[in-house]
Amino acid sequence: MTKAVSGFSKLSKDEKINWIANTHFSNPEEAIKTLKKYWNSDADLQKLHDEFIENTITNFYLPLGVAPNFLINGKNYTIPMAIEESSVVAAASKAAKFWSHRGGFKASVINSEKIGQVHFIYTGNKESLVQFIKEIKPKFFSETESLTKNMQKRGGGILDIELRDKTSELEDYYQLHVNFETKDSMGANFINSCLEQFAKTLKDEAQKSTLLSEEEKNIQVVMSILSNYVPNCIVRAEVSCLVSELKEDKHISQEEFAEKFIRAVQIAEVEPFRAVTHNKGIMNGIDAVVLATGNDFRAVEAGVHAYASRNGKYSSLSHAKVENGVFTFWMEIPLALGTVGGLTNLHPLVKMSMEMLGNPSAHELMQIVAVAGLAQNFAALRSLTTTGIQQGHMKMHLMNILNQFNANEEERKQVVKHFDKHTVSHSAVVAYLEEIRK
Ligand code: MEV
Repeated sequence: MTKAVSGFSKLSKDEKINWIANTHFSNPEEAIKTLKKYWNSDADLQKLHDEFIENTITNFYLPLGVAPNFLINGKNYTIPMAIEESSVVAAASKAAKFWSHRGGFKASVINSEKIGQVHFIYTGNKESLVQFIKEIKPKFFSETESLTKNMQKRGGGILDIELRDKTSELEDYYQLHVNFETKDSMGANFINSCLEQFAKTLKDEAQKSTLLSEEEKNIQVVMSILSNYVPNCIVRAEVSCLVSELKEDKHISQEEFAEKFIRAVQIAEVEPFRAVTHNKGIMNGIDAVVLATGNDFRAVEAGVHAYASRNGKYSSLSHAKVENGVFTFWMEIPLALGTVGGLTNLHPLVKMSMEMLGNPSAHELMQIVAVAGLAQNFAALRSLTTTGIQQGHMKMHLMNILNQFNANEEERKQVVKHFDKHTVSHSAVVAYLEEIRK
């Protein structure tokens, strides 16, 4: 066990690295070498990355891939994806190509409201509180004017402020539940700043109020923070074609494929164990684009999974049906994304990703991201209900195994050729490598 360290954040980067290397690694020199190997030779670029977080010691790379041929609302996109999982970009590209010949993806933003809350404790008479909040409501707006001025110019701002009585769930617990429109920014800073001002106004006005007794003036604000649950910030993505156009697999008819595919979706609708994996496949696509475009994938993940449980049971985010010979596959998900602010203006690769997408608005990005998720889900279900997932998965994983065993170029060529006709498994690849190395 290593000893605790004090004042670590005040050490220089080199001092931090030396401390870590000497206290956590059997070969400190090797550890320092590895950490430095990932530093960028451009000192300014490295400094930019160093300053994203505290205690940066090196960079942690993820591949940035692209999935071309995404036809969305009639417009062609090449979608950037930052992800480490071998088969995701290949699967997205395949699904994109498949649907580009069948009218492409349709996507639309249903609404884009964000939510923030001031959570507080009030022990007095409820009716007095209701009257007090009604009286000071204009103050919530006027005292945040300096914060909302610019947002209003862009068409956003505070939409509504509501007092919610939560005392049946927790004694004396109330909240200000606030709806915001934040246009092209994700809006976390804007929302949190407004909420902190509301909290201040709430406390200050309570002190002055004639509607509250001395005891009732003692409102205790517990916290003020945005919610990452955004059920009113919803985007829909959809594909459809005639069942006869599905032409899926030589071993299975179009009708059989459509039926099996829909069954697979229905299973995810009723069975949480399957729904989690089904939705994980959707998030493979979503997170990769969210990351590449500098958005907060943890916020998106939390919000999406909460939404998947909104009816009291965790369920599939996507749905499928056949009606009048038309196969339709769709999904509605909450996505709070930004195309201005945060990392979007700072990270050079995020800027490139945005440019690659044609510098989309937040609404357009919501559509692109949702489509990437739906495409990923389609690709996974297509494999699962036909060949099984492992065939494609292991083909992509082959490179990882070859890297693990330091295969040279010639060995790689031979192995790839051999496994074009043989089933890939870790042991089969190792055995074949050993055979050709003899
Ligand atoms: C793997 O990352 C994702 C899948 O498991 C998704 C699914 O099962 O639908 C293939």
